Amino acid sequence: MKRLHAGSVSLVMYAIIVIAAASALAAQQSQLAPTPPMGWNDWYQYECKVSDSIMRANADALESNGMKAAGYVYVNIDDCWQGKRDEKGFIHPNERFPDMKALGDYIHSKGLKFGIYSSPGPKTCGNYEGSYKHEEQDAETYAQWGVDFLKYDWCSAPKVYKPEEMQGAYRKMYDALRRTGRPMVYSLCQYGLEAVWRWGPKVGGNMWRTTDDIGGDYDRMSLFGFQHNGLDKFVGPGHWNDPDILQIGIGKLSNDEGRTQMALWCLLAAPLLAGNDLTKMTPETLEILTNPEVIAVDQDSLGAAAHRVWQEGPLEVWMKPLADGSKAVGLFNRTVSPLPITVRFATLGLGHSVQVRDLWARKDLALFRRNTLPQCPNTARRLSKLDSELRMMNSEL
Ligand code: GLA
Repeated sequence: MKRLHAGSVSLVMYAIIVIAAASALAAQQSQLAPTPPMGWNDWYQYECKVSDSIMRANADALESNGMKAAGYVYVNIDDCWQGKRDEKGFIHPNERFPDMKALGDYIHSKGLKFGIYSSPGPKTCGNYEGSYKHEEQDAETYAQWGVDFLKYDWCSAPKVYKPEEMQGAYRKMYDALRRTGRPMVYSLCQYGLEAVWRWGPKVGGNMWRTTDDIGGDYDRMSLFGFQHNGLDKFVGPGHWNDPDILQIGIGKLSNDEGRTQMALWCLLAAPLLAGNDLTKMTPETLEILTNPEVIAVDQDSLGAAAHRVWQEGPLEVWMKPLADGSKAVGLFNRTVSPLPITVRFATLGLGHSVQVRDLWARKDLALFRRNTLPQCPNTARRLSKLDSELRMMNSEL
């Protein structure tokens, strides 16, 4: 009897220790990324041509063009910066990056943050050096360079790890990062394999890619973006679904299509990493990326993500609850022809009278006292400005 009692005490203690450790991890994660990280990543614009001067030029643009003020702070080098390891095994950058610490200092001098990239495998996707068997050393090196963000990309890892070892491989780098004492946002990139949203937070992830690489046209972007219904329950302060880099201004999306991506990503509470050349952007691209009311939906402190509340074939309505009790709503027409969408207040959990604000236009529309929003007659993805209209419903009056 006594024995049984002692056993149950230690079980309770164990549970307390595990719960305490888990909540310490959650607290660290939510401090690092209380809202979805915002910044810029070079991959889609420069791929393996990226260099120190490209990073500096884009950091300069980010600082001065209004994007920093809008919340974009991470300046992230993707693949292809790695050179060789020295005889002790420490990684050095290649000739395109003469001094990584100096680059980090430069980015920090602008009030911005510095991101880098590696892989748990022996090689990155671009066939550069990965961190396999050098996790501790690489984490130390990143800390010395002043890195604030690590994207860790699965790439060649299947050559050395089985699928069931994936979580351990990601946790290993998280532990190495933590031991450096330098806070670094940890971005898992393994294309949504093994339902990463279920275990991403446990291995220290602040964000995890939910999909394959998004690079391409509207169809690919919308295929990936709209497949997030039901994944909202895995999102919250410190840990976010990442449907990949914004394609706005890179060249394959029209402005309306760019608005669709921006609206959807903000509703999904996705990290907002611009991917275009910031040194040469059009005013329209800048406007889409920096609309403060649309960004506020992404950065809302409640940390909820949208789910689909209504669908009729290619017509969809998504809704995201916000911290002040109001709701952000996106009306999406995924066809090429104009089709009206009508939203019933009941579908959104609202009563019969709501205040509506058009967030793209940044103006109040009206106080609607009927049971539906008026039809949006012109919604069509390649035709109309109303495409992906994003509206905030203030609480019932
Ligand atoms: C993978 C990732 C991309 C990018 C490239 C770099 O494909 O998913 O986001 O980092 O590798 O090689």
